[in-house]
Amino acid sequence: MPIHVITSQKGGVSKTTITMNVAAVAAEILERVSPEAGPVLVVDCDPQRSAAWWAHYVGADRLPFSFAEANSPAELERLRSLTQFSEIFVDTPGSLDDNARAQAALNVADHVIIPVLPEPLTVAPVVRMIEQIIKPLGLPYITVFGRWDSRNGRRKLNETRTALLARGFPVAATVLRNFEITTNASIEGLLATSYPRSSHEAQRDFVDLTREILRDYLPVAEALPAETPGTTISVSALGDMTVRAGE
Ligand SMILES: Nc1ncnc2c1ncn2[C@@H]1O[C@H](COP(=O)(O)OP(=O)(O)OP(=O)(O)O)[C@@H](O)[C@H]1O
Ligand SMILES: [Mg+2]
Repeated sequence: MPIHVITSQKGGVSKTTITMNVAAVAAEILERVSPEAGPVLVVDCDPQRSAAWWAHYVGADRLPFSFAEANSPAELERLRSLTQFSEIFVDTPGSLDDNARAQAALNVADHVIIPVLPEPLTVAPVVRMIEQIIKPLGLPYITVFGRWDSRNGRRKLNETRTALLARGFPVAATVLRNFEITTNASIEGLLATSYPRSSHEAQRDFVDLTREILRDYLPVAEALPAETPGTTISVSALGDMTVRAGE
C-alpha cells in the first residue's frame, strides 16, 4: 500500500494533473496485472479542492479509483491504516511553505513525486525543496517534467534536466508534454484512460510515467511491454505479467 505524495514548492506545476491521471492509469494496470490487488485511492488534501472537482466532473460511476478528501493532519495520518488499497496518491496544496497539510502528507509518504516545469528558473526552488525538505525525510522521490511545449524546442528542457541530474536528483525519463486535451480534462470530466483515440500521444505520456512509477513500487516481474500506438486505452495493450506479491 505505498503512499505516493505529489508535492512541489511552487503552485500550478501539474500536481493535480499528475495525481489524477497517474492514479487512473495505475488503476487500469493493476486491474489487469494484479486483479487480486485492492483498489487505488486518490486523496485530495488541497483546500482548493481541484482534484475533488475533477472527480465530480468525471462522475462517481466512471472514476477508476476511490476518492477521498483529507482535511487535517490527523486524517492524513489515518491513511497509514487503509491497507485495503493497493496504491494511494495524495494531491497536496500549491506550496510547501508554511503548509501543515503538505507536511503532514509527507509524514505518511512512502514516495514523493515532484513535478517540475522545464524552465531554468524553476531549478533553484526545486533544489531548495529537495535538499531542505525531501532529503531529510529519507524517502525515495522522483522529479517529473510537466507541461513541456515541444514547439519551443528542447533547449530549456535539457538545461533544466541537466541541472537536476548534475545534483544527483532522480528525474523521470517520461516528460509530460503540453496538450490541450490535458488542460481541459478536468472540466470535461476526462482522465488519461478515457482520452479519445485522437489524443493517444497525450495519453501515452501518462501511461509511460505510470509505468515508471509502478516499476519501482509494484514490483512487476517482467518489463512492461511497449503499448500499441493508437489504442484508446493504452494499458489494455499490456500483455500478461507476473507480479511478485509481497516483495
Ligand atoms: N501536460 C499538460 N498539458 C496541458 N496542460 C497541463 C498539463 N499539465 C498541467 N496542465 C494545466 O496546467 C494547469 C496547472 O496544472 P495543475 O492544476 O495540475 O497544477 P497544480 O500544481 O495542481 O496547481 P496548484 O498548485 O494550484 O494546485 C492546469 O490548468 C492544467 O490543466
Ligand atoms: Mg493542484
